[in-house]
Amino acid sequence: MAHNPLMRAEQDIVEPLLAQIRAKRALDVGTGSGRYQPLLEATGASVHGVDFSLAMLARGHGARRVCGDACRLPFRRAMFDLINASLMVGDIADLGELTREMARALCTGGHLVYSDFHPSWAQRGWSRTFRSADGELHSVSFNAHAIDDHLTALEQAGLRVRTIREPRLGSQWDGSEPGIKAFRRRWGNPQVVVVFHAVKEP
Ligand SMILES: C[S@@+](CC[C@H](N)C(=O)[O-])C[C@H]1O[C@@H](n2cnc3c(N)ncnc32)[C@H](O)[C@@H]1O
Repeated sequence: MAHNPLMRAEQDIVEPLLAQIRAKRALDVGTGSGRYQPLLEATGASVHGVDFSLAMLARGHGARRVCGDACRLPFRRAMFDLINASLMVGDIADLGELTREMARALCTGGHLVYSDFHPSWAQRGWSRTFRSADGELHSVSFNAHAIDDHLTALEQAGLRVRTIREPRLGSQWDGSEPGIKAFRRRWGNPQVVVVFHAVKEP
C-alpha cells in the first residue's frame, strides 16, 4: 500500500490512469513488494511483476513475480499491452536503455505508465531517506532525470506521450504527519512526483 504521503500523491494519479486502460497482459516493472499488482489485476489483466531484488520479491505476494533486470526484461517482445513502473526510474542511470526495453516488451498500441521523483528534488538538494528498525537514518542515492530527458527517451523509443502529471503532497496529511508541517514551512507546496502515460506507436 501507499505508506507515505509521496506514494499516496503518486498513486492518486496513477491508479485512475491504469483503471481506464483495458489491458489483457500487464507487467509491473520494479514491482517491489507488489503495491501495484492488485490494482493492475483489478483492471482485468493477467499480471507479471519483475524486480531485481529477491528481498523485495519475498516481501510481496501474488503469482508471477519474477527476478530480473528492468533493462533486460526476461520476457519476449510485444508480450504486454500495459507496463507500469512506479517510482523505480530514479534507480536507473540510463533512461534511454530502460525506455527502449519497456517499449520492446510492449505490443503496438500498448500503454506505458510510469512515475519518477520530480526533477525539483535534485534542484533543491533533497535526498531519499528511510529509518531502519534500529532507528538509524539511511540515505538512498538516485539518478535525477529532467522532464526533457524523459520526453527524449520516450520519443526515441517510439512512445507517444499522452499525459504528464506533476502531483503535490495532499493536504490530508497536514495534521497527521509531523514532518509535513516543517516541509511546507520550508518548501511551500512543490510538485514531488512526475507521472507519464505514453502509447507505443505503430
Ligand atoms: C522505490 S521501490 C518502488 C516499488 C514499487 N514500484 C512501488 O512503487 O511501490 C523501487 C523498486 O525498483 C527495483 N529496481 C530498481 N532497479 C531495478 C532494475 N534495474 N531492475 C529491476 N528492479 C529494479 C528495486 O529493487 C525496488 O524494489
